[in-house]
Amino acid sequence: MIERCCVYVLAGFLSVMLFFAEAYPDPAGELTEPPEPGQIPVYQPKAVLARNGMVSAAHPLAARIGVEILRQGGNAVDAMVAVQMALNVVEPQSSGIGGGCFILYYEAAQRRITCLDGREEVPAAARRADFLDSQGRVVDDDLTGGAPVGVPGTVAAMWEAHRRWGKLSWPKVLEPAIRLAEDGIGITPRLRQSIALNRSRFLRFPTSRRIFLKPDGSVPEIGEVLRQHDLARTLRLLSQHGPAVFYEGEIARDIVRTVQNASYRPGKLSLEDLKRYRVVERDPIRFSYRGHEIVSVPPPSSGGITLGLMLGILEPTDLASCKPGSVEEVELLARAGAASFADRNAYLGDQDWNPDIPMRRLLEPTYVRQRAKIALNHKSGRPFEPGRLIEGHFQASENPREGHDTTHFSIVDNQRNVIACTTTIEHGMGCALVVEGRGFLLNNELTDFDLDRESGPNALDPTPRPRRTALDAPDSIGGKRPRSSMTPVIVFRDGEPYVSVGSPGGVQIIGIVGQILVNLLDHKMDMQQAINAPRLSSRNGPLELEALYPQRANLVRELERRGWRIEPLRPLYDVWGGAHGIRINSDGTLEGGADPRREGAVRGW
Ligand code: GLY
Repeated sequence: MIERCCVYVLAGFLSVMLFFAEAYPDPAGELTEPPEPGQIPVYQPKAVLARNGMVSAAHPLAARIGVEILRQGGNAVDAMVAVQMALNVVEPQSSGIGGGCFILYYEAAQRRITCLDGREEVPAAARRADFLDSQGRVVDDDLTGGAPVGVPGTVAAMWEAHRRWGKLSWPKVLEPAIRLAEDGIGITPRLRQSIALNRSRFLRFPTSRRIFLKPDGSVPEIGEVLRQHDLARTLRLLSQHGPAVFYEGEIARDIVRTVQNASYRPGKLSLEDLKRYRVVERDPIRFSYRGHEIVSVPPPSSGGITLGLMLGILEPTDLASCKPGSVEEVELLARAGAASFADRNAYLGDQDWNPDIPMRRLLEPTYVRQRAKIALNHKSGRPFEPGRLIEGHFQASENPREGHDTTHFSIVDNQRNVIACTTTIEHGMGCALVVEGRGFLLNNELTDFDLDRESGPNALDPTPRPRRTALDAPDSIGGKRPRSSMTPVIVFRDGEPYVSVGSPGGVQIIGIVGQILVNLLDHKMDMQQAINAPRLSSRNGPLELEALYPQRANLVRELERRGWRIEPLRPLYDVWGGAHGIRINSDGTLEGGADPRREGAVRGW
């Protein structure tokens, strides 16, 4: 019943979008007033243009807060911190201080791009056995409670970026989110849907139930006001004391108590784990496509390398001459997706823990050419073997537990500094556990490990030796970071930043971002069209096609005739992702798109 309602809400939402596309005047970068508490927001109807600065994010209030910070003299990094904290308030199901993130930052004055890895880590005492039942099988509800919680990285990453590059003070950039949490927000259709889907998980934990459900345990209605006083106090503490209070002080103690005493599946996260957490600066992944330089994030995200391989396989094809959504285009994208995922599933994991796997070799031109030759001549629909990167490759595995939530936002400021940030608490509402008295949800990122296997680059067991951590216990895996699919991207044209884009969608993220780049660079769509276009997901299994393909039934019939197996549509998963992006046009204007599949918005000035 809930699922059917959700499909109706989504269908209604898409029709409202179509209506607005016709009837709502293009705001052309003007700020529209934010909805008052209790109202639901107006969604972004089509590409927005602006001159000075722009934010594209998963909620109009978050985008507006980011632009206000830019107007007040803040730069893209100041706006990023403000947007991330605001998203914790308005989109608590997708990201927040209880989770992790990847940040790509282009600093215009230095012409330099930096990648900060704020991914969650395994607590030192956690083991794969914590996820197994007495038969050695992964437990049914492995997503909920304290056991899947990884050491959160978002606070440390935001602080580090702000420490290096921020212009406004830390308290100033946190203030808008604090006010939003205190004043309250109107519950949107998507937030209500997420609360409804997670109601039974919230009922397990009094702290979560108190925040997200009504006193009688029912789900609040769309438009009801959600005030988050505990979260406001937590953000106030962070604003006054910085990250020490989160990683070593009173918030740290409450995180540990909440995880270790969880009434369902307690976990082993400790104060030492929190204290040891560090953001890692990593060399970004760089490759070229259609004469543009594409920059994305490296392992422990599989995003950048897999995207590079996927687009490298497509480079020799004449995609521009295929009609978008045609069977010819779908087949090319499907081959590139499947071949690159064969390698991704076999080889990619946390590079710090798998120093013997030369992960970046997957992007060497000779290797990419070999893979392209194989992929483009392969029999349609047949699965791919991984390439021979090392002798005796690992058993390929796609972890079936990767969640579809997460969120992405893009920011460009008036100096043309650029942010692409993808950020998550893993599944919708994370582990469903709100930290006692602190008002924020914890992640369940440990389910991004391949819990079905004891070894391999993404295993939650201590086989490969670490290069980086300094833990004493010989079998400790503390500090390993689970493989991610997050793929924030900044594209350069003639050496200048051109596009910032990314998406949520778990394992589907990489294909979503790849398709948006194809839409922009091959099909010459604008940013909103590129985001709107129907999506597929090809990961070396049955091909998934969104419900949005026109004449989908005919397309499916033709693909099946050619040998492809098509995954049937599932309620709630018949469209996917929630992409946000900004393009810097050659006349200097900023052109922003936000995904009608979610509740995102672009704001500019
Ligand atoms: N939690 C989503 C990802 O890491 O890809």
